[in-house]
Amino acid sequence: MQMGIAVWLFKQVLAATLFSICCLALTQDGTTLLEMKSAFNDTKNFLSNWRETDDTPCKWIGISCHPNDQRVTSIALHENSLHGLIPNEISNCSELRALYLRANYLQGGIPSEIGNLSYLTILDLSSNSLKGAIPSSLGRLTRLRSLNLSTNFFSGEIPDFGSLSAFGTNSFIGNLDLCGRQVHKPCRTSFGFPVVLPHAESDEAAVPSKRSSRYMKGLLIGAISAMGLAFVMLLTFSWIRFLSKKERTAKRYTEVKKQVEPEAGAKLITFHGDLPYPSFEIIEKLESLDEEDVVGSGGFGTVYKMVMNDCVAFAVKRIERSREGSDQVFERELEILGSIKHINLVNLRGYCRLPTSKLLIYDYLSNGSLDDYLHERGDDDATLNWSARLKIALGAARGLAYLHHDCCPKIIHRDIKSSNILLDENLEPRVSDFGLARLLVDEDAHVTTVVAGTFGYLAPEFLQSGRATEKSDVYSFGVLLLELVTGKRPNDPCFVQKGLNVVGWSNTLIRENQLEGIVDRRCADADAEAVEAILDVAATCTAANPDERPFMKQVLQLLEQEVLSPCPSDFSESHSDYS
Ligand SMILES: Nc1ncnc2c1ncn2[C@@H]1O[C@H](COP(=O)(O)OP(=O)(O)OP(=O)(O)O)[C@@H](O)[C@H]1O
Ligand SMILES: *[C@@H]1O[C@H](CO)[C@@H](O)[C@H](O)[C@H]1NC(C)=O
Ligand SMILES: *[C@@H]1O[C@H](CO)[C@@H](O)[C@H](O)[C@H]1NC(C)=O
Ligand SMILES: *[C@@H]1O[C@H](CO)[C@@H](O)[C@H](O)[C@H]1NC(C)=O
Ligand SMILES: *[C@@H]1O[C@H](CO)[C@@H](O)[C@H](O)[C@H]1NC(C)=O
Ligand SMILES: [Mg+2]
Repeated sequence: MQMGIAVWLFKQVLAATLFSICCLALTQDGTTLLEMKSAFNDTKNFLSNWRETDDTPCKWIGISCHPNDQRVTSIALHENSLHGLIPNEISNCSELRALYLRANYLQGGIPSEIGNLSYLTILDLSSNSLKGAIPSSLGRLTRLRSLNLSTNFFSGEIPDFGSLSAFGTNSFIGNLDLCGRQVHKPCRTSFGFPVVLPHAESDEAAVPSKRSSRYMKGLLIGAISAMGLAFVMLLTFSWIRFLSKKERTAKRYTEVKKQVEPEAGAKLITFHGDLPYPSFEIIEKLESLDEEDVVGSGGFGTVYKMVMNDCVAFAVKRIERSREGSDQVFERELEILGSIKHINLVNLRGYCRLPTSKLLIYDYLSNGSLDDYLHERGDDDATLNWSARLKIALGAARGLAYLHHDCCPKIIHRDIKSSNILLDENLEPRVSDFGLARLLVDEDAHVTTVVAGTFGYLAPEFLQSGRATEKSDVYSFGVLLLELVTGKRPNDPCFVQKGLNVVGWSNTLIRENQLEGIVDRRCADADAEAVEAILDVAATCTAANPDERPFMKQVLQLLEQEVLSPCPSDFSESHSDYS
């Protein structure tokens, strides 16, 4: 009898368990959305039909699902007076394609977990009260086609990484404290202090965890971070006082130094008598550089134009980030770089260490970078026609072959890209910033730092191991050739959307024999044979296996054959009609 009751009880319990598993359970996406609902603080009760008694969220307001598997593909909650935070659990809706949250009152930051939503194509968070840094994880969203973060309170540097590189000002308007290439606003002013704090990957601190079981932990973390914040502020404050004191001393020092020998905090090294000016003039010019003199900024700092009293101009790069290590080692290595002279390399003329910064003095190239020339001018500016591009490819290859094969010790560039190919008044190319990456970036830290602006040029094995070799330079040069032929940046949205980079994209078109789809329309003077030959060179340079790539010297030979030997008359003809 008792046995019978036990069996009956067991059956009841089993049935109840099975029932709850098969029929009551809300899908995982639904559970995630309910978490979001509580985070959103839906005071106006717009989300009243989001109920845990449903078995799928697919009929809920604002939600669309895939018809087959009931996974959530879109969340559309524009103008719903939502007050709270965007919870990081949102990344559990891993099939999400579109997230529309425009015109609510959302607070806190963008959780970096959004970068895990690998199918996301549309992200509209405009007109909220979101703040903090834009997490660089968004750059991993390779399918992202539309991004709108306008009119919020975001701050810091917009990471120039992956898909984030493909969006311009329109995606970020109305966030006064954002800076970076995308909004054409350099992140730091002159010699002073950062205008805004540099971005940090982890703004998650702004998205506190809400679970009550984590409450104590939260409190503890809160207290610790408050103490941390206070400590950082204290440090910053004393740092600023320290620097401004130093700066004042430096000012006094330059005033005196006009009569006296230099020394006392500032140190100036000029290489090979390349800077024939009195030290005080150079230091005075360096110290008076400000925002108006900025010509650009990159991964290591800001570049200024410095004009001497005799009207000769130099480019000054102020290093903001540098590797730990002694100044002597740094200066010795710089001296090696300063000793390298070649017609296709930008000459490093001097180095100055001021109390507040390290400054490198280079030749100033009046036509700026190839990047600006290719991508920042109109579609109908045909100055860079095919023959001008060949000339640039050839000159850049000469400069690089010199670094790899004629310098002792040989120099690996590590950062070959169009913004490091500068153009003189005749559009002759000069390679800049060679060897700088090694000098300024820790081997381990490189992937997070260098990759930012260089993404798309880096060889697969370099991305994996972080070890730069001659062959990884050759790969980057191959990407540069493709950029010259196509006129498109290596991470142009038109390939990124297809999940390709420029190498994969051009390989596909070459295989399908669609050459005319590849060549930049501004190259009306290109002939098919020459284009094919250059694409061949680019293809061998970008071979996935580094051993199959040629050395830079061989690349140079291939290009010389192409440009100079087959029909030299052709080349000089088109050459003359361009100049
Ligand atoms: N010697 C120079 N003469 C004229 N303009 C220069 C010179 N050096 C740099 N520039 C300008 O300044 C911009 C920024 O240069 P910078 O080297 O700081 O950044 P980058 O080349 O984009 O990236 P990276 O830091 O990786 O080199 C360049 O795109 C170019 O327009
Ligand atoms: C999100 O997914 C993680 C791991 O799969 C799981 O531990 C967590 O409970 C999920 N959160 C929600 C709200 O579904
Ligand atoms: C939800 O919003 C209301 C109205 O703004 C506010 O008073 C309340 O504190 C919020 N609650 C939470 C948990 O954020
Ligand atoms: C999601 O993103 C976070 C932070 O960006 C990361 O630490 C975590 O490993 C990611 N999770 C998955 C499942 O990819
Ligand atoms: C982004 O949103 C703002 C305000 O909602 C709008 O004015 C702007 O045009 C949008 N930008 C893009 C690129 O859609
Ligand atoms: Mg550069």
